[in-house]
Amino acid sequence: MQVVVVGLGYVGSVCSACLASRGHQVVGVDTSTYKVDCIERGESPIVEKDLGELIAAARREGRLSATTDIARAMPGADVVLVCVGTPSREDGSLNLDHVKRACAEVGSALASTGKFTTIVMRSTMLPGSVLDELTPVIEQASGGKAGDKFGVAYNPEFLREGTAVDDFNNADYTIIGAGCERAGESLKAVYEGVGGELIVTSIPTAEMLKYVNNSFHALKVAFANEVGRVCKKEGVDSHAVMKLMVRDTKLNLSPYYLSPGFAFGGSCLPKDVRAIVSRSRHHNLELPVLQNIIRSNDVHVEDAIHLIEKFKMRKLGFLGLSFKAGTDDLRESPILRVIGTLVGKGYAVLLHDPNIDMERVLGANRRFVEDEVPYLPERLRADLREVVESSEVIVVGNRSAAYREIGGMLRKGQVLVDLVAGVDRRTVVNGEYHGLAW
Ligand SMILES: NC(=O)c1ccc[n+]([C@@H]2O[C@H](COP(=O)([O-])OP(=O)(O)OC[C@H]3O[C@@H](n4cnc5c(N)ncnc54)[C@H](O)[C@@H]3O)[C@@H](O)[C@H]2O)c1
Repeated sequence: MQVVVVGLGYVGSVCSACLASRGHQVVGVDTSTYKVDCIERGESPIVEKDLGELIAAARREGRLSATTDIARAMPGADVVLVCVGTPSREDGSLNLDHVKRACAEVGSALASTGKFTTIVMRSTMLPGSVLDELTPVIEQASGGKAGDKFGVAYNPEFLREGTAVDDFNNADYTIIGAGCERAGESLKAVYEGVGGELIVTSIPTAEMLKYVNNSFHALKVAFANEVGRVCKKEGVDSHAVMKLMVRDTKLNLSPYYLSPGFAFGGSCLPKDVRAIVSRSRHHNLELPVLQNIIRSNDVHVEDAIHLIEKFKMRKLGFLGLSFKAGTDDLRESPILRVIGTLVGKGYAVLLHDPNIDMERVLGANRRFVEDEVPYLPERLRADLREVVESSEVIVVGNRSAAYREIGGMLRKGQVLVDLVAGVDRRTVVNGEYHGLAW
């Protein structure tokens, strides 16, 4: 493939060298004559392990060159990778000025070529950037339409400085957000043979993924450091704790708990987070991540209440009362806070849960019902159909299998609010489906 790489910084120079080493013909473009001259001399413009050797070899073998002139690089290009900087503005917002300029230059150069070229953003940018902000710039400059004269794609870069060449060659996956099939196919050809699975998805998903990955990495660092600060005060070896923590690949380092759903609850998570936060306050420690977990969970509950109230319908049916399916433990079930608030506001509320039978609710759970949710027994119904048929808004509050295909029971005009991503949306033929955070 003929590949043009615009921007020869950390991302661009690693991409250029690695793609050239895989047999592609690469031309790098940068406004900096220093960086262009480095590449032309066969040297790396940045300090990065193994990069100098790769660039020197690619130069020797005639597969890599560089220029400051995009128009000179473009003729014959199959794919253009845009890797220029996307710095923060003073208010923290994303500055796309460099990318817009690069896209305008690429677009102008495209105006005089007849070849279908795929323009791929690799710089980090928020959802909507490629389709709403950059594609129009290219269309205007080239006089052509995306999907017709050229293709657009977003291909996030996940390399880490210091191990960038290894990360490029041994990525876990390569994500291709493709604007059209042809764009996806060209990028697949560019990455053929690079380690990891090639996954084609939508452009906004790929754009968002980059931010989610980096936010999660930042959260991991902040979390581990806060654990370290509490451990030090407690005289506990923080490294020993975290080494054991990461060995649990069922609940800790795993997809578990990482799918958007409803707030956490139950008899352990809220109580234990509160206890460690209380202990940290006793030590006068400031731990913004740990200390705000309960607040974040509360906001999620408040959002659910707002979503349900938005429909301005007074008859509500709640399906699933325990904090998760398969238990009758009602303690600290977050849906009960939603129900309690709406009962207090005078909504007509009916309830259903296959695991809750008031006759059999015993012990701490019974006391909890009497003290905290006295409205529950008179509103609970054993007949699911009765609850669904009597309600205008039906709220699913846990992932019980009984509710998976509940959409099929809805009539026109009814609203289904799914707080747990537990309903098969395809079953909702009549009525409306609304997810809490999806
Ligand atoms: N550095 C990383 O580890 C890393 C990792 C993943 C993603 N990213 C993202 O990739 C993007 C690039 O990051 P970087 O660290 O390589 O940036 P960088 O600042 O090192 O390099 C950007 C290069 O683009 C050049 N440039 C700017 N405007 C240009 C134009 N109109 N035409 C040609 N060249 C132009 C600059 O001269 C510079 O050499 C950013 O969006 C960044 O967030 C960076």
